[in-house]
Amino acid sequence: MKKSLEDHAARFDELAGEYDESNADEYRACANLVIEHAAPAADEVVLDLGTGTGAIALALAPDATRVVGRDISDGMMERAAEKATEQGLENVAFDYGTFRDPAYDGPVDIVTSNFAMHHLSDTEKREAIAVIAELEPRKFVLGDVMFFGEPDPDEPFYSPAVDDPATVGLLADAFTDVGFSLTAVERVHDQVGVLVAERSPSDSATPTKPAQDE
Ligand SMILES: C[S@@+](CC[C@H](N)C(=O)[O-])C[C@H]1O[C@@H](n2cnc3c(N)ncnc32)[C@H](O)[C@@H]1O
Repeated sequence: MKKSLEDHAARFDELAGEYDESNADEYRACANLVIEHAAPAADEVVLDLGTGTGAIALALAPDATRVVGRDISDGMMERAAEKATEQGLENVAFDYGTFRDPAYDGPVDIVTSNFAMHHLSDTEKREAIAVIAELEPRKFVLGDVMFFGEPDPDEPFYSPAVDDPATVGLLADAFTDVGFSLTAVERVHDQVGVLVAERSPSDSATPTKPAQDE
């Protein structure tokens, strides 16, 4: 991480008031794809990491039984909570939690994250993906700044002073190393994409005894 958690939190606290009006078309396309791929069933729980002002969490709440948002910026989460109240959503809750310590140990079916994990170094991203795998979601939908080609700081979405995006290849390896299969790759821009990682139902089910021949 190129800045400390506290530095990132302070930066987003300052941005919170104007954040929702400040985003580019590619950000919106990425967020829409995350929402589309997450597609929770009515009885499923979603954990949204780096939830910010709740763009993903609030969009998924009407379809899910419960949405848990985690972030390090109180300012961003205060805005998310205000929007939940305005929208009459009572099944969504926001609280402090990081990628590597989401401070959540309940059941989770789907983990989402949009435009947030690129603040972590590649090693930290691998650690975060391993922590997420331990929560045993059936699906993890990651929208973020990620490199499909050569990194280019002159292109939008990537500022080397604060951002540390990974290549698509590194992220794909990190998912498969902890037991996910990559089931979709969406390229929004050469530096923005959405990856969908899933576990087969048998991976998390209690192993059953093989049938005995009579
Ligand atoms: C660009 S905003 C994206 C917010 C939201 N996901 C969206 O799509 O609009 C990035 C968010 O990630 C949060 N963040 C940065 N580093 C984090 C970390 N290590 N753990 C949890 N959240 C983090 C920031 O506080 C900020 O709210």
